[in-house]
Amino acid sequence: MNILEAAHLDKYFGGVAAVTDLSFQVPKGSIYSVIGPNGAGKTTLFNMLCGYYVPNGGSITFAGKELVGLETHEIAARGISRTFQNLQVFYNMTVLENVMVGCHLRTHTGLIKAALRLPSVVREERRVREWSMEALELCGLEHLAEREAGALPYGELKRLEIARALASAPEFLAMDEPAAGLNDTETLEMRALIQRLKGRGITILLVEHNMGLVMEVSDRVLVLGFGSLLAEGTPEEVQNNPDVIKAYLGEEV
Ligand SMILES: Nc1ncnc2c1ncn2[C@@H]1O[C@H](COP(=O)(O)OP(=O)(O)OP(=O)(O)O)[C@@H](O)[C@H]1O
Ligand SMILES: [Mg+2]
Repeated sequence: MNILEAAHLDKYFGGVAAVTDLSFQVPKGSIYSVIGPNGAGKTTLFNMLCGYYVPNGGSITFAGKELVGLETHEIAARGISRTFQNLQVFYNMTVLENVMVGCHLRTHTGLIKAALRLPSVVREERRVREWSMEALELCGLEHLAEREAGALPYGELKRLEIARALASAPEFLAMDEPAAGLNDTETLEMRALIQRLKGRGITILLVEHNMGLVMEVSDRVLVLGFGSLLAEGTPEEVQNNPDVIKAYLGEEV
């Protein structure tokens, strides 16, 4: 079963066609990667999925329901969470607090109730802490919960971002270059984390330049070239596709 289906997506910026007539399907529970050279349209696709850009044409359905036209928070409420290519961490807050920020979609406390410290609010805060600690554990960061986020090395910050994205209990997680800037050890940790998330039943959309990582973890890979679908299939199919080898992957695979 496909959890996400994109059909005939178009996105133009003035005269530039960033994405043209793009269709693909993401099977539920899979790791689905989008690759392609710089400027191929990966981030544009990502932003259309998350509601940051409105497509000029086409549709994106999630669990059978249309996403195009929804606001970013409405898309998040449907169960789609994301991480950013550039870190979006609050450096002067603790690691735990950073993750607790991601829980707001699961809570109902308004400002007045919070100010009155009603018992329901206190209970909810305890739950938020528990959810956040679970997300930190999944990301291997629970021992750093009380540490100031600004003191963490880059690899752990990247995983902290994922922990925060997980705090909203998403069904679908879109990650924009989670391995960018990581050293070899950190990349291995990231790979293990991505596989753990899949083990939890979360469907993953991965935009990533690290071909080794993509080919190891992905169930399917979509190759974009100048905004269009160049190839789509299993990592093996894509790696053996002559067009892909020639035009986009070069010597890397
Ligand atoms: N907000 C924007 N305004 C104008 N043009 C844009 C905008 N966003 C993207 N583009 C253009 O659309 C095309 C696709 O860009 P996009 O950022 O989606 O590529 P990408 O595959 O993510 O590249 P990279 O690997 O460098 O991140 C490029 O030609 C880019 O210049
Ligand atoms: Mg990009």
